[in-house]
Amino acid sequence: MKIKHIVVTGANGQLGQEFQKLRHEDFRFTFLGSIELDITNSSDVTNTISTLNPDIIINCAAYTAVDQAEQEVNEAFSINDHGANNLAIIAEQLQTKLIHISTDYVYHIDKDSPLIESDSCNPLGIYGKSKRAGELSIISQLDNHLIIRVSWLYGAQGNNFVKTMIKLGMEREELNIVSDQYGAPTYSRDLVRAIIDIIQTRSKITGIYNYCNRGKTTWMEFAKEIFDYCKIECKVSGISTSAYGAPAPRPLWSVMSTDKIQNLLSKEIPHWKESLADCLEELGPMT
Ligand SMILES: NC(=O)c1ccc[n+]([C@@H]2O[C@H](COP(=O)([O-])OP(=O)(O)OC[C@H]3O[C@@H](n4cnc5c(N)ncnc54)[C@H](OP(=O)(O)O)[C@@H]3O)[C@@H](O)[C@H]2O)c1
Repeated sequence: MKIKHIVVTGANGQLGQEFQKLRHEDFRFTFLGSIELDITNSSDVTNTISTLNPDIIINCAAYTAVDQAEQEVNEAFSINDHGANNLAIIAEQLQTKLIHISTDYVYHIDKDSPLIESDSCNPLGIYGKSKRAGELSIISQLDNHLIIRVSWLYGAQGNNFVKTMIKLGMEREELNIVSDQYGAPTYSRDLVRAIIDIIQTRSKITGIYNYCNRGKTTWMEFAKEIFDYCKIECKVSGISTSAYGAPAPRPLWSVMSTDKIQNLLSKEIPHWKESLADCLEELGPMT
């Protein structure tokens, strides 16, 4: 098999760093952080990607500060929409595949069953709106796209809920955690493995796919599971999204169906509790 050249943009973020840990004989990676390639700069994107001429681009670059986005609208759209659009344009010119990471926040609809990829999108916050705009830009520019919507991303790298909870749980005796938002966490290591699996076995697949770990939970139950595993004694009380009062609106229902992507994968997607245990094991001394 020909060795595939993969360019990863936003390579120093949480997910980008997870890709950097991969060692795989079938792939050659070029990792580009925001210093090496600012995806909002269209001429830099054209020049850099043309020179590298990869088989696949994986876009992990994003504006991810959900609350701050309400104040930094232009910046959020510049990175999440314009930046994604720049990558799609050059991917189309070079006939390269673009794998783009999106979010459950694009749905933001009321439903009593798991969200499926054909459900309508009604993002309410700036972050969700900018990510949806990026999806639509990619779809309109490039047929050879794979958009993967993930929820509640965490891992051993970067900043995330799991690490924040461990820190706060060790500092405080009691925490109020949101208990009326339902979803499922996504362990970045599982996501990277799923993407590699698809590249290896279903490289021609295009379209939109949900990915998260199996099962469903709330942020409060997620925090309790972290504390139980780490034997952190911190009292957890539930609080509603409205009482918590974060600046950006958040969907109460973010439970995504993963049936569509599961059909492509050679292994069953792990349950979120199993993957959380793997991550806490990986974090080791921190806990
Ligand atoms: N985190 C979550 O809970 C979550 C949930 C659902 C979906 N997602 C999606 O998952 C993907 C990965 O998220 P993540 O948690 O890994 O995000 P992250 O840790 O915030 O990393 C994003 C990376 O993008 C880079 N970046 C920002 N602006 C850029 C630009 N103009 N050009 C190039 N790179 C730029 C950042 O670099 P600098 O630090 O140098 O600015 C950072 O390294 C994103 O698409 C996100 O929307 C995340």
